[in-house]
Amino acid sequence: MSDALTLKNDLTAKIEAANDLKSLDDVRVTALGKKGAITDLMKSLGRLEGEERKIKGQELNALKDEIANFIKAREAKLKKEELDRRLATETLDVTLPPLPKKIGHVHPITQTMEELQTIFADMGFSVAEGPDIEDDWHNFTALNFPPGHPAREMQDTFFLNSKASADKNTQYLLRTHTSSVQIREMEKHGAPIKIICMGRVYRSDYDMTHTPMFHQVEGLYIDKNVTMGHLKGCLIDFLSAYFEIEDLPIRLRPSFFPFVEPGAEVDIGCSRKNGELKIARADNPLEQEWLEVLGCGMVHPNVLKNCGIDPTEYQGFAFGTGIDRLAMLKYGIPDLRSMFESDSRWLEHYGFNLFETLAKK
Ligand code: DAH
Repeated sequence: MSDALTLKNDLTAKIEAANDLKSLDDVRVTALGKKGAITDLMKSLGRLEGEERKIKGQELNALKDEIANFIKAREAKLKKEELDRRLATETLDVTLPPLPKKIGHVHPITQTMEELQTIFADMGFSVAEGPDIEDDWHNFTALNFPPGHPAREMQDTFFLNSKASADKNTQYLLRTHTSSVQIREMEKHGAPIKIICMGRVYRSDYDMTHTPMFHQVEGLYIDKNVTMGHLKGCLIDFLSAYFEIEDLPIRLRPSFFPFVEPGAEVDIGCSRKNGELKIARADNPLEQEWLEVLGCGMVHPNVLKNCGIDPTEYQGFAFGTGIDRLAMLKYGIPDLRSMFESDSRWLEHYGFNLFETLAKK
């Protein structure tokens, strides 16, 4: 028997014996690979002469094609068998419940906004919105910050290049507080009015408790007989509902904001034992400590006039505070900057389950 015939019988037997794709590929390498048996024989043709070389060459080429086709056929057969096996064993049970889907988390800011909205809606406030890009009138002048007044400098404003704007005489800026929405709402709707506004505000500041963009909530209630008593009652209800502490101590401390008179800052009771801040009433009143959370006051008559409301007929209160800070205090978030770094590990830790958020509503 010639070498070629022996080889053919040998390879054919091996191909037939290969019961999976991996062993079939091993046979292919031993036959047709760079160092395979057929390849070796091809190389030996160089040593033959003339006619003999021609005949052997044709014989080997035919063998090569035959083996390659045989391998291909065996491969198709094995693949089909494998598929048949899988189809026979894998079944789909359509009655099984779906796998839990990863749907991400609700950001603590979004969660806090939802909570604030719910609390104030219960008190009859509706939600207003205003633009992030403001003009000097709505952010400062109408709020009784006279031009050049030092109170403007308390807020590290990002001014925009007004030369590039449509109205070159208007100074545009990124709003430094949501108080600008008070003006827009009063100009648009007049009195009476009862709104909150939540949104982004901007100041040039950056450390553990400040970021150039943060969030505020603003409240405004104007009617005929609104007093500071209503303001205090509203804030007590709001803060104890938000922190979920029924007898949360609250105090108003006189303070200055150009757009209110009188103005106050609001503190809530806390304790700072072992350096750990806890919002609550102290067991011993003498040990009660305070934490500032909010600014408020009775809307200044100049502000009402600036919006076309008669201060002898209407009066009311306003308040404003940082949503991010409220979230940090309630949910124990130590660094404000981490809120805006879009780190999904942070969000998995501090974020909320969407279904819990919906269920709370
Ligand atoms: N706009 C103030 C700020 O950003 C907060 C504030 C204080 C808002 C007193 C008010 C208010 O409505 O009455 O610092």
